[in-house]
Amino acid sequence: MSKKPKHVAIIMDGNGRWAKKQGKKRYAGHNRGAKTVSKIVEQAAKEKIKYLTLFAFSTENWNRPKDEVNILMKLLVSSLKKEFVKLTENDIRLSSIGNIDSLPKLVKEELSYVKNKTKNNSGMVLTLALNYGGKEEIIDAVKSISDKVKNNIISPEKVDESTIIDHLYTRNLPPVDLLIRTSGEERISNFLLWHIAYAELYFTKTLWPDFTKEDLNEAFRNYYKRERRFGKTSEQLN
Ligand code: IPE
Ligand code: IPE
Ligand code: MG
Repeated sequence: MSKKPKHVAIIMDGNGRWAKKQGKKRYAGHNRGAKTVSKIVEQAAKEKIKYLTLFAFSTENWNRPKDEVNILMKLLVSSLKKEFVKLTENDIRLSSIGNIDSLPKLVKEELSYVKNKTKNNSGMVLTLALNYGGKEEIIDAVKSISDKVKNNIISPEKVDESTIIDHLYTRNLPPVDLLIRTSGEERISNFLLWHIAYAELYFTKTLWPDFTKEDLNEAFRNYYKRERRFGKTSEQLN
């Protein structure tokens, strides 16, 4: 049986389809999805998960209609305002990954406010992936490593796994143990490429607004049944 996952990452997909199924506009699904975030974050903290990383907005999501992007950014600000008391109550520290500099000013301000207010919380680390792309993360790491090589700070032959990790947005996060994606899509969509190298993948057809605490626990139960071999044989593990 696997141990408790230390780092759980979630691709919270299916909000638009949830709304469509109800004959509502897509944003109704995103609003409902924000409520799910609140419940799942609390549940993960109760389950003593150390790191929870949520995919909230990808670098590719800028290609959506302008109205939808605007609504998503507003929802982010209002959710941060609403949730931040709950984060402290549950001893959760807020963090983020992605290209935060290019987000709207209001999002940046609210994000840095909540990060600052929760910085001394020592329970779960909640990381929001915002304007995040796994390829961009690797490109940025390669750029900063190349720069250090050019300036003789790093010698090329010394570049190893830890050099790469130290230059990723996710440098302070352990590898992902369990990656959950809701909505029935079975793809990674440019999320956490490096850190999911050995993650266990869990796909569920449930749309994110319908995802419950019980569904999260079901994902954990499924994970516990898996044998994580990391290249070894089953006999070596037992
Ligand atoms: C995921 O839900 C949330 C974001 C990308 C912001 P979607 O908006 O992709 O919902 P579907 O996949 O269209 O149903
Ligand atoms: C991934 O969902 C991004 C987030 C959940 C924020 P998408 O809905 O954007 O992914 P694709 O385009 O279906 O792969
Ligand atoms: Mg989607």
